[in-house]
Amino acid sequence: MGIDGQQTTHGQSYAYTSPYWAEFYDMWVEDIVGPTALAKDDDFFFSLLSPFLSSNSSIQEPLRVVDMATGTGRVIRGILRKMESHAQTKKPLENQDRIEIWGIDHSQAMIERAKSLLEMKLQPSTTLIWRNTTAASFVDDNPELQNTVDLIIFAAGSIGHLTAPGEKKRYLQQVVKALRKTDHSRTRHPVAAISILKEEDSLDSKEQDIPNLQVSHATEMRKISQRWPHLEYHKSPITTLRNEDRLIDSFKLSVIETATGKIISQEMYSWSLKSFNEDEWDRELGDCGLRIGHKIQTKSNMGSETWYLLYLTK
Ligand SMILES: C[S@@+](CC[C@H](N)C(=O)[O-])C[C@H]1O[C@@H](n2cnc3c(N)ncnc32)[C@H](O)[C@@H]1O
Repeated sequence: MGIDGQQTTHGQSYAYTSPYWAEFYDMWVEDIVGPTALAKDDDFFFSLLSPFLSSNSSIQEPLRVVDMATGTGRVIRGILRKMESHAQTKKPLENQDRIEIWGIDHSQAMIERAKSLLEMKLQPSTTLIWRNTTAASFVDDNPELQNTVDLIIFAAGSIGHLTAPGEKKRYLQQVVKALRKTDHSRTRHPVAAISILKEEDSLDSKEQDIPNLQVSHATEMRKISQRWPHLEYHKSPITTLRNEDRLIDSFKLSVIETATGKIISQEMYSWSLKSFNEDEWDRELGDCGLRIGHKIQTKSNMGSETWYLLYLTK
């Protein structure tokens, strides 16, 4: 395992290691992002993949896609749903039976949740592979990925979680190792699609100027567990603390037995996000041998999101 800012900084209180948070995460995202925006995301993820599906038919190897920081598999589920509806309504896509999708995350709890949500029937030759490994060493830990990947997706601004010194750059170096080098039989260049979320944009402008600012976001949320229907979750508002170029989010998650009111678990959880620095980003991309092909800007309830579609320089 390579360097990992979240595990080192937050240890036991890192939210994404909790199976309770893994379930609650999906309900939380649905509430704050909303079903319409989530469906639009699915369209976007599929738009990244579809050019490959129609241009690789002469290739023997499967199309290889990596969903980095897959979490509960939202991106993969979106792609599979779209592939399915496309196959039902339109001419079947070429190559859709030769796709291999890797869901990578450093949290086993998130991967287990993703697996449980993806028990749908897959196309015969669609292969899903799950790996618990960290972004900064995902190819070194899985050498079979070297020079074989067509598309890498890093969604939801999660690259901001690479907070340790040099961690983001190490990840970009791994991306360069993974992407398929020139293969003239393919008409599409391999792509790394990375979402950058400026979470600060969700703070108002007065808040943005205050150093070490501490603000609370959203109200408390209560939800019934689907996995354990006798339990319910109570999540406190999230408190955001700014420390130089970091935002540290923390909140309390209580798990309560509905019938008796007994507290089964009550923990303070946290994660942190590094603010995006465009100069550093441009420099690191150049140093690693990546160039920006397209920049796509969107606005969501989580702040402003920019998707960078990156290509190998050589
Ligand atoms: C906000 S969730 C995003 C999940 C999913 N991609 C989505 O769009 O819903 C962030 C995910 O990043 C994962 N993560 C954070 N740092 C990571 C790292 N260094 N390596 C691998 N996964 C990481 C967390 O475990 C968590 O599942």
